[in-house]
Amino acid sequence: MKLLITGAAGKIGRVLRQGLRGRYDWLRLTDIAPLGPAGPGEECVAADLGDLAAMERLCAGIDAVVHLGGVSEEPAENAWAQVLPANIVGVYNLFEAARRAGVRRVVFASSNHAVGFYERSQTVGVDMPLRPDGIYGLSKCFGEALGRLYADKHGMSVACLRIGSFRELPEDRRQFATWISPRDMVQLVQRCLEAPSFDFLVAYGISNNPTSFWSNDAVQWLGYRPQDSAEDHRARLEPGFPPEDPVQARFHGGSYCVMGLGKPQGRAG
Ligand SMILES: NC(=O)c1ccc[n+]([C@@H]2O[C@H](COP(=O)([O-])OP(=O)(O)OC[C@H]3O[C@@H](n4cnc5c(N)ncnc54)[C@H](O)[C@@H]3O)[C@@H](O)[C@H]2O)c1
Repeated sequence: MKLLITGAAGKIGRVLRQGLRGRYDWLRLTDIAPLGPAGPGEECVAADLGDLAAMERLCAGIDAVVHLGGVSEEPAENAWAQVLPANIVGVYNLFEAARRAGVRRVVFASSNHAVGFYERSQTVGVDMPLRPDGIYGLSKCFGEALGRLYADKHGMSVACLRIGSFRELPEDRRQFATWISPRDMVQLVQRCLEAPSFDFLVAYGISNNPTSFWSNDAVQWLGYRPQDSAEDHRARLEPGFPPEDPVQARFHGGSYCVMGLGKPQGRAG
């Protein structure tokens, strides 16, 4: 398999680059940020997701894409202006270039912030309506819908991963529910790349956290079996974490739900 990874210079990209090295025939790595020298079986190409022709060149001869590139959090200011080129135009360019090049499968890094306005009392599966908690989450909803279109209309195999909190260890109280460890992230992407055949799936990118707000029950067939649990770190880490404010503690998206909030009560349901 020849694999293209976008956003390969980023936090998840660097871990996947190392974790997938040697597993597939060829890794083509791309980003606008420096990627360092290419190792054996690797190729590094600088490109902007806004450049459709460059995306087409990157997708030539590729079997599968892991699409991580783009704005990876809610911008504090001018969110739409920042998110539009990378996460709306950019994700379109990537899928369209992949289609034109005959790429078989795309694994898209979506986000838990596509469903951030659910209340924490509710467990959310992979097939419930989207409830984005900001402009960034909204861009991930667009990416998921785009993936669905390319699966339905063009026969592409598409996996959308609603990644929780990718960290070495949980870094706040919310992350005991949302954490995904680096090795679980690598396993999840591997499963999505190697599962024999599917049209479209959504899965949560979380470790085996007993207090998770999300359920992957509908995608057990994928064979993702997380090895880590945030719970193993709670006793040591939790006493050092400050309490969450009430709105943060109420919704899945935590602090993202508070940013720019115009209606402090939110809406239940
Ligand atoms: N890290 C997490 O906890 C988390 C949670 C949910 C979703 N995600 C998603 O996973 C993906 C990777 O996350 P990350 O934490 O590695 O983020 P990151 O910010 O470390 O990496 C994103 C990379 O995309 C590149 N990029 C940005 N704009 C680009 C453009 N116009 N053209 C080409 N490259 C561009 C950046 O240079 C960066 O290296 C993102 O799509 C993010 O939204 C991450």
